[in-house]
Amino acid sequence: MSISVGIDKIGFYTPGLYLDMAELATARGEDPNKYLIGIGQSQQAVIPPTQDVVTMAANAASQILTPEVKDDVAMVLFGTESGIDNSKATAVYLAHLLDLSSHTRAVELKQACYGATAGLQLAADYVRVHPAAKVLVIGADIARYGLRTAGEVTQGGGAVAMLVAANPQILALEPVSSYHTADVMDFWRPVYRTEALVDGKYSTNVYLDFFKTVWTDYQQQTQRTIADFDAFAFHLPFTKMGRKGLRQILPEAAADQQATLKAAFEASQEDNRHVGNLYTGSLYLSFLSLLRHGQLTAGNRIGFFSYGSGAEGEFFSGLLQPDFRQGFDDAALTQLLAQRQRVSVAEYEAIYRRQLSNDGRDVRLAVGDDDAPYYLAGRQNQQRQYRHR
Ligand code: HMG
Repeated sequence: MSISVGIDKIGFYTPGLYLDMAELATARGEDPNKYLIGIGQSQQAVIPPTQDVVTMAANAASQILTPEVKDDVAMVLFGTESGIDNSKATAVYLAHLLDLSSHTRAVELKQACYGATAGLQLAADYVRVHPAAKVLVIGADIARYGLRTAGEVTQGGGAVAMLVAANPQILALEPVSSYHTADVMDFWRPVYRTEALVDGKYSTNVYLDFFKTVWTDYQQQTQRTIADFDAFAFHLPFTKMGRKGLRQILPEAAADQQATLKAAFEASQEDNRHVGNLYTGSLYLSFLSLLRHGQLTAGNRIGFFSYGSGAEGEFFSGLLQPDFRQGFDDAALTQLLAQRQRVSVAEYEAIYRRQLSNDGRDVRLAVGDDDAPYYLAGRQNQQRQYRHR
């Protein structure tokens, strides 16, 4: 008999600053409802220079790692497209910051917003073969477009940390999944750029096409239909995107089930609406949001659509476990979001311009305003200076 493998714990971190989307709309000469309803974002995380994907991942992972769990972590798979080095993996810095055993295997995975899903599936396969092992999977990014671009309203950032284990507390992954790859230029970031290049409208169409493809294939592989699902979680670059995805398949459901799926979607977009895009972590923040705000019960089947531009799509599913509420700290996450400070558009623009330069010069950052456990203090001799308080 095959063992049950999946997500045992989830942690989430986003920095303590946010920008109000109605205020940004006004500053950009747009109707606030375009951002609030048309795009579906109310707030956006603002990432100070003292946080990067490594520190955000450490701040998320430290929530779910006890000394006993650390001993069992055999592998760290770090999904990101906001890497800080073209050679050395963020996972190695992270394993050091978290004080993991030197017997841990640590690598970085990149495929736009799909990286964490690759990590999750590789981790699950590993644990199926090594059931005593646990794998730390990270999805961390800073979604950065340009000031006054169409993509500006879809920025954000943060990190999701997931512990993948046998007999998981939160979600048992089902073994069948459907994935699809095609060489598409909808969004990319050449190594010489700090902001992504994007064909925005095209990217939204590719997202929907990929969803149709993998959803159809998953149904053919499993003989399941929409009636077998209690909720869906989507990659949410902005919440309207997932709403469009759900609308695409909703007519396949009976009227009462449509209402259930719509309510589940509202729960799944709640936290993303206040954080913005965190690229590869977005699907898993949406799942966490569904766990926190949804009307779920053990045994519910949840469908996941992961999309990474460039492009890779995957549809997979999992069954909610009886102790799922023990796998994350709901009160701490509510507090994390509630305690954030609002910054004005002028302050956001100043922070946007203060990101660590690409010239390799020594920098000492003003760390006084950042009270996160893990933070970046600067750069010295071409090396990032990570600190833990
Ligand atoms: P835009 O051109 O500024 O917006 O760009 P728009 O004119 O298309 O309007 C957006 C929506 O607001 C429309 O609704 C309007 O009707 C509505 P829709 O037709 O889409 O349903 N609207 C209003 N609604 C209410 N009241 C109003 C009002 N005015 C207009 N007054 C775009 C939007 C998303 C293209 C842009 O923000 C962008 O380029 N974003 C970045 C790309 C992106 O997020 N793509 C998503 C799919 S690709 C993906 O998910 C991968 C990604 O995460 C990266 C990775 O994989 O690493 C991005």
